[in-house]
Amino acid sequence: MVFKPANRIANLPPYLFAEADRQIAAKRAAGFDVVSLGIGDPDLPTPRWILDELHRSVEVPENHRYPDYYGLAELRRAIASWYMERFGVELHPDNEVVPLIGSKEGVAHIPFAFIDPGDVALVSDPGYPVYAMGTLLAGGEPYLMPLTPTNGFVPDLNAIPADVLRRARLMWICYPNNPTGAVAPEGFFERVVEFAARHNILVCHDNAYSEVSYDGYRPRSFLEVPGAKEIGVEFHSLSKSYNMTGWRIGMMVGNASAVSALGRVKTNIDSGIFQAVQYAGIAALTGDQSFMEERNSIYQRRRDLVISTLREIGMGATPPKASLYVWAPAPNGYTSLQFSLKVLDEIAVWITPGVGFGPSGEGFYRISLTTPADRLEEAMNRLRRLRL
Ligand SMILES: Cc1ncc(COP(=O)(O)O)c(C=O)c1O
Repeated sequence: MVFKPANRIANLPPYLFAEADRQIAAKRAAGFDVVSLGIGDPDLPTPRWILDELHRSVEVPENHRYPDYYGLAELRRAIASWYMERFGVELHPDNEVVPLIGSKEGVAHIPFAFIDPGDVALVSDPGYPVYAMGTLLAGGEPYLMPLTPTNGFVPDLNAIPADVLRRARLMWICYPNNPTGAVAPEGFFERVVEFAARHNILVCHDNAYSEVSYDGYRPRSFLEVPGAKEIGVEFHSLSKSYNMTGWRIGMMVGNASAVSALGRVKTNIDSGIFQAVQYAGIAALTGDQSFMEERNSIYQRRRDLVISTLREIGMGATPPKASLYVWAPAPNGYTSLQFSLKVLDEIAVWITPGVGFGPSGEGFYRISLTTPADRLEEAMNRLRRLRL
């Protein structure tokens, strides 16, 4: 028996990366040693003291029970202290912080708190696909705001039509940006705060990459801007900051009414984060943060290797100041998917076609820096042999 899915999922656009996965699997099955520079998933290990705390907490029987819906008070306090120390942002742990089962969980669920059928979410394009998918699942309409090199990879707020603005409830922005690696230009967050307040839109800033940066650049929190908490929330995650993608722990912080609304959705859907993982998260946030410098210098060396190789073979690319990604234009004459498939076919390296992140990603590809140096070098040596 094949069951007909609900329109809600039947109408989701096809997932472009599924076809790519099939192509990679076929190449591997044919005996090729494929180097994937696709996914942004840190290969470096979670720091030792965080593992130690997990080992300790997993031995405590109370931690095996249902956790508190809103997370341990101690975790919410650790998140608030981390925001104060890192960004100088003051958060009330009781009503301005909600822990998440990875930030993806909250990103996907917040539309259920604010989007009714007919409502619009303004979504950066290219962008993390969950912004648009969560909106569609909630019955809303994503309105794509193009990010292009000419606009510095920030949306042109003045280009959003008035009838869209009237229906807009949420706006998704992300800096340091996935996939473009762009950082927020001076004054941009301030403009967003003013715009969102004028149009009564909840800003969702995704700050998943704030701790991965290069050349001394320190990303800001959106909430540092005066008035941001009146109109916005920020998503953060321990995934990229502490090499903890598999642990599933993140948070949404900021506007108290939004925190409360997402909490109401979540209490009806999930039962919180495994408490031993919450204790490990507290250890991460409150422990010695100095490992990040060494970790980022490893990524920075990889970034430099990728950029110098691309330049050597005549393919331009700008070094990102933050994030795990190099975003670069595909050679003339190729769509982003054609170029990715050519690279896979000829040299058995996988790079992500930009169009997978939205229509404005067409003409670009993304290289992730989360591949160990020897494999990345192998991929770069192969790139030098690519016939264009
Ligand atoms: C921009 C962005 N936001 C959110 C996430 C989700 O991360 P997690 O669910 O692991 O916290 C990712 C993961 O790749 C991402 O790239």
